[in-house]
Amino acid sequence: MTTTRDVQWQDRAAELADTLTGLGKLTDPAWQAAVRQVARHEFVPRFYTQDSTGAWTESDTSTKDGRRAWLEAVYSNKPLITALRQDIDPVRVLSSSTQPGLMTRMLESLDIRHGHRVLEIGTGTGYNAALLSHRLGAANVFSADIEPQLVELARARLASLGYRPTLVAADGALGMPEHAPFDRLIATCAVSAIPWAWIEQLRIGGAMLTDLKTAPSAGSLVRLTRVDDDRAEGRFDPTYAAFMGLRHQPGEPDRTVTWSARDTAIAHQSISAVNPQTPWNAMVVWFLAAFDLGPDVSIGYTGIDTTSPPTAVTLSTPDGSWTQINLATAEGGHQVTEGGPRRLWRAVENAHHLREKLGNPGWDRFGLTVTPDVHTLWHDHPDGEHRWTRSTRTQPNDYWTPVAPAHSR
Ligand SMILES: C[S@@+](CC[C@H](N)C(=O)[O-])C[C@H]1O[C@@H](n2cnc3c(N)ncnc32)[C@H](O)[C@@H]1O
Repeated sequence: MTTTRDVQWQDRAAELADTLTGLGKLTDPAWQAAVRQVARHEFVPRFYTQDSTGAWTESDTSTKDGRRAWLEAVYSNKPLITALRQDIDPVRVLSSSTQPGLMTRMLESLDIRHGHRVLEIGTGTGYNAALLSHRLGAANVFSADIEPQLVELARARLASLGYRPTLVAADGALGMPEHAPFDRLIATCAVSAIPWAWIEQLRIGGAMLTDLKTAPSAGSLVRLTRVDDDRAEGRFDPTYAAFMGLRHQPGEPDRTVTWSARDTAIAHQSISAVNPQTPWNAMVVWFLAAFDLGPDVSIGYTGIDTTSPPTAVTLSTPDGSWTQINLATAEGGHQVTEGGPRRLWRAVENAHHLREKLGNPGWDRFGLTVTPDVHTLWHDHPDGEHRWTRSTRTQPNDYWTPVAPAHSR
């Protein structure tokens, strides 16, 4: 029987390193060597794919063709779903092996150097911990995952390749105070606010990188430097990225929200010039709109049935507000139908105008300042005209509020 240990993987790993280098996502020779020399297939012995009906299939390595397809996927620049919770409907994704190009971009963006001690939140398969261990020595690598069984699998896989970083099964939101301080922190899951513990456990001058999502799909990677005891500050990365959300309990989603019934008594009709697919194709507009819409906005498509192409985009919020925007145009725009206490599409239209007024900024024109009490998200400058704040502590209702410009205060 062929085992995963027998596969010829070195050429594929070298090709992956070349591909990522060609894409500009891997430039540092030390990380290039890590991608060439760390066997990703050891960390991803199987993965899952979902078809258009929502059904999941496990990769099949029982045949020669199956093994070839598995190995090709493992050494391609693709994220791979690696753990599911299948005892519930719908099946929940628990873990994945991040797209390699995103991983290397994050590692390079953190400017990790020889001798640094690095804390990773979200061990997952252990592959990223292996890249870090290859580069820094396992004694300098610390990694936590909320799922105990994933930590044990990662520990065994890492040990089989000779790496013994410190792995802990715990809520990574708490960091790893017993091993602090760290020079760098990398979180491979998304948060709605930066846990102060992460900053407190960085050395002054140390840096962290995580995915900040203020609402579903609203936000991206932000890199913060701890500038003094009580403050970390930095900007968003220029390119959009999205990770699964951090959760505080194994297998459970982080937020449980009570939804009021959709209020369909009165439906308002209007025509909008704004593209209904804004949440997916104008991510900065969606990010700006989410300050107004709140953290629990739900977005989706609707249509005649699940087998036909969708006809409209839907938005709804827990207060019973809902909006449906037709994908087709009529009367010079998209028909909007909405009900409930708030006009949700207006938030998206306002965000669209704000982005135009700001000169169509990319992600890196936005930044974040975090203190033990307050998060301030800003455009262009920490004291700039456009800022939004929220508490650093997680609240039941994590809304961001706009800071009034100085002249109107
Ligand atoms: C994208 S995967 C991590 C990929 C991983 N770095 C790798 O190389 O395979 C995100 C991981 O975050 C973990 N996670 C979610 N909430 C967490 C928490 N509170 N603390 C630590 N890990 C958490 C998930 O279980 C999941 O394994």
